[in-house]
Amino acid sequence: MSQNDYRKPVRKAVFPVAGLGTRFLPATKAIPKELLPIVDRPLIQYAVDEAREAGIEEFVFVTGRGKTAIVEHFDVAYELEATMRERGKSLDPLEPTRMQPGNLTTVRQQVPMGLGHAVWCARAVVGNDPFAIFLPDELMYGSPGCMAQMVEAYNEVGGNLISVLEVPKEEVSSYGVIAPGASKGALTEVRGLVEKPKVEEAPSNLIVSGRYILQPEVMDLLATQGKGAGGEIQLTDSMAKLIDTQPFHAVTFKGRRFDCGSKLGFVEATLAIALDRKDMGSDVRNIAEKLLKS
Ligand code: UTP
Repeated sequence: MSQNDYRKPVRKAVFPVAGLGTRFLPATKAIPKELLPIVDRPLIQYAVDEAREAGIEEFVFVTGRGKTAIVEHFDVAYELEATMRERGKSLDPLEPTRMQPGNLTTVRQQVPMGLGHAVWCARAVVGNDPFAIFLPDELMYGSPGCMAQMVEAYNEVGGNLISVLEVPKEEVSSYGVIAPGASKGALTEVRGLVEKPKVEEAPSNLIVSGRYILQPEVMDLLATQGKGAGGEIQLTDSMAKLIDTQPFHAVTFKGRRFDCGSKLGFVEATLAIALDRKDMGSDVRNIAEKLLKS
């Protein structure tokens, strides 16, 4: 197959949201991690907005036990809306929660066996199309958004793309790490991928952050893949195999990434985004300054 075969437009996105969110217990006992709000928008909303901006039209949520509230979030809340209308309240804050009829599909991952397994659960909906993946607990904050930057690169090189960022070398063992080839601007050729390497064995300090554009063949690789690092079916292991047969690039995101799956990252995102908001930034700054002085 020539490189041109890997350039079909990306219209579908998979959102794996079936994880247990144990790092946020007890908050995530009854509420999905993806609904924890950064200021007034749940994490999943940031990801869906980023996807829409990048031209995504079909949204596939890989859910698990206790995650139905995520789907509710994107439904029409008839009674709420009727009551708000009666009281003359603006419905504008609900606007981003509206989906086109039929554009949201859920598939179930009955047991959280890892990110690779979660993605594979979406295979029937993905079919033969390229697709994006968003890990909603990684909040990519920038304009244009991370996926829009990736789609721009995809239009140039096609194939498979992941977003990467640089971390201090001693931190690489918590992440998927790329073996980089040639670079041009924000685009770097990916020669290899390894999940959670030992610091001394890591091929670089460029880690895979939570955005991907993959060709559908990855599903066949995931289907036969065994468990990897941490006893989970890792997406990285199947992506590594794709490199042999298809174009594979990394895009360095121009923006800020917050790891909202960790408490510190979550607090950092809350502060950074609140400070950046036009409607509240200066008040938040005053509060923060007061707190720092006390
Ligand atoms: P995490 O590694 O953050 O796992 O998953 P987690 O279970 O959500 O959180 P902790 O570590 O227990 O606190 C990264 C993303 O992949 C999804 C998660 O929902 C999250 O969006 N995921 C992970 C699945 O959908 N299924 C899995 O089996 C594993």
